[in-house]
Amino acid sequence: MNFLLKVWRQANARTKGRLLDYEAENISPNTSFLEMLDILNEQLLHRGEEPIAFDSDCREGICGTCSLTINGQAHGPNHPGAVCELYMRRFKDGDTICIEPFRAKAFPIIKDLVIDRSALDRVVQAGGFISARTGSAPEANSILVPKKNAELAMEAAACIGCGACVAACPNASAMLFTGAKVSHLAFLPQGAPERRRRVLGMVRAMDAQGFGNCSNHYECVAVCPAGIPGSVMVKMYREYAIASWLEAAGE
Ligand code: SF4
Ligand code: FES
Repeated sequence: MNFLLKVWRQANARTKGRLLDYEAENISPNTSFLEMLDILNEQLLHRGEEPIAFDSDCREGICGTCSLTINGQAHGPNHPGAVCELYMRRFKDGDTICIEPFRAKAFPIIKDLVIDRSALDRVVQAGGFISARTGSAPEANSILVPKKNAELAMEAAACIGCGACVAACPNASAMLFTGAKVSHLAFLPQGAPERRRRVLGMVRAMDAQGFGNCSNHYECVAVCPAGIPGSVMVKMYREYAIASWLEAAGE
């Protein structure tokens, strides 16, 4: 298969970027999208040109680093799934494919397709943890968790922190991400001691990092590779409302 790639090239955060054209030729349909970029980079190196900078690590949909916008869609056309789970057979021979970094004020571009997503880490640092000593695995029945709550917590914990929800949102909101991180601990008894402090800290950190507010477009849910449901945002709003009311009441 042959493709015309339009790739965002930008030397660093201070310079202007632009889309440059590259030919990707004789690509097997079973090549992954990232392997196709690897092949192109090999060719660029052979020609003495600067390879395209892009992020990846696990290449199996669990680390969240392969954050690219492909033809205008965060993670490309294969939902739900990360870029590393996308294969070239998903495109047509001769297609033109536009490849850009995730775009959001809170995600400054480092180089080419690589962005700084540490703003998400700072949201987690504001409360996405428990202070209980975990020690070795406890006896399973020592802390009872209703099956429904265990399932909801596991569903929310599937968030891989990729930031696609932010990139897809017209307001660059991180509410789906933050909602997932708040919810997965709020559904479990182990998360109870810091419950109020957690949601207040994380929501305020989210605002401080420059993420926008939700206006119910649900583009975040449409592109999320982990299938995080919009209900985590409802859970976060409820947690936040209770915590801020108790805070205002001096409790
Ligand atoms: S909620 Fe989904 S899209 Fe957002 S960071 Fe988590 S896995 Fe990525
Ligand atoms: S490289 Fe880890 S999720 Fe894609």
